[in-house]
Amino acid sequence: MTTVSEKQIPLLDLRAQHRQIRDEVLTEIARVVDSQKFILGEDVQKFEAEIASYCGTKHAVGCASGSDALFLALMALDIHPGDEVLTTPYTFFATAGAISRIGAIPIFVDVEERTFNIDANRMAEALASHPKIRAVIPVHLFGGCADMDPICEMAEDRGITIIEDAAQSIGSEYKGRRAGSIGQLGAFSFFPSKNLGGYGDGGMVTTNDASLAERLAALRIHGRTGKYFHQWIGINSRLDALQAAVLRVKFRYLDSWTQGRQSHAEHYRSQLAKLSVPVIPAEPTQYQTRHVYNQFVIRGPERDALQAHLKTQGIGSEVYYPLPLHLQPCYSSLGYKKGDFPVSEKLAAESLALPIHAEVGTEDIEYVCDSIRSFYA
Ligand SMILES: Cc1ncc(COP(=O)(O)O)c(C=O)c1O
Repeated sequence: MTTVSEKQIPLLDLRAQHRQIRDEVLTEIARVVDSQKFILGEDVQKFEAEIASYCGTKHAVGCASGSDALFLALMALDIHPGDEVLTTPYTFFATAGAISRIGAIPIFVDVEERTFNIDANRMAEALASHPKIRAVIPVHLFGGCADMDPICEMAEDRGITIIEDAAQSIGSEYKGRRAGSIGQLGAFSFFPSKNLGGYGDGGMVTTNDASLAERLAALRIHGRTGKYFHQWIGINSRLDALQAAVLRVKFRYLDSWTQGRQSHAEHYRSQLAKLSVPVIPAEPTQYQTRHVYNQFVIRGPERDALQAHLKTQGIGSEVYYPLPLHLQPCYSSLGYKKGDFPVSEKLAAESLALPIHAEVGTEDIEYVCDSIRSFYA
C-alpha cells in the first residue's frame, strides 16, 4: 500500500515565490493595464537594457519565448534550409526544434557525463565529418556553462557561429564571463520555471553585434524596418509589456534567489557525502565559475524507483530528460539509433532533479537527503 506523506516539498513552488512579491507585481500589472500599452514599449526597452547589462552584452532583444529566441537567432544569422547546425541530444526539445523549424538539420553531439553539456572532443569529430555545419548551439544546461574555450576556438577555425542556449542559465558564468556574452548570440527563456520566470512566456536574445541586434529587432516584427516597409521576412514574436513589467520586479530579486539556490546545492552535496549514498550530485567544474542551479541534478542507480520512493515521502522530483532528442519519433528520419550517444542515453536513464528553489529550507534538504538514504538502505 502506498502511504502519502504529510510533508510536501514540491520541485518548484511559484506560489511561495509570488507571495513575497505580490504587492509589487500587482502594482506593476495595474500600471501597465491602466496605460493600455501592451506591445513592446518602454517596459520592454528598460528590461532589455537591464538584461544586456546583467549578461555583459551591448544589446538584448526581447521576444515571445526562449524557443523563438533560438529561432530568431538562427534567422538573424541567415541559416538556410539544408544547412547543418550542431547541438546536443540531451536538452529540452526547443533547442533542436528551432533548428528544424528553420529547415536546417540538427547534427547531434554527445555530452560530457560530469557537466551534461556538449563534449568538445565529440564536437571536433562532428565538425570533421560534416562540411555543411554553419553554426553550433552549445546548451548551458541546468544552470552551468558548457566548456566554451574549445568550442569558440573550433568555431573560429571553421568560420561557424555560436548561439548559446542560455535558457536555463541566466547569470551563469564561464571563467568569469556571463552566459549569453561568449558566442555571437545568446538565447534566454523567461518560462515560469526558469530562474527569472515571467507570468507567462517570454524570451530574449543577447549580442554584442549592433547589426545583428538591429536585424533581430526587425525580425521579431515581421522584418519591418519602417512603417509598412519590410526588409526581411520575419515573424511576430514580441515580449509583452506586461511580462517585461513583471520580470523587472523579479529581476531585482534574481541574485538573492540565485544565492539561495547555490547554498542549497552546497548543502545537498555535504549532506549526500555524509550519508554515503550511491548517487552523484551535480558538482560544477573549475571553469563554471558561477553555477546558477536552475536544476540540481543527481545521478544514481534505480532512478525510477528512487523517484517513486521520494514521491511517497512528499518530495517532488523530475527527470530531465527521459528520451534524448536523437531517439524522439519526430527525428527518426535523421537516421540516428539507440547507442549513438551513450552518455546522453545514460544520463537520461540515471538523472533526477531535486527541489532547489530559493523557498526550500535547509531542513527540507536534509529531509530529501534522508529520504534518499532510506531508499538505498
Ligand atoms: C535548454 C532550453 N532551451 C530552450 C527553451 C525554450 O524556452 P521557452 O520554453 O521559453 O520557449 C528551454 C525552456 O523551456 C530550455 O530549457
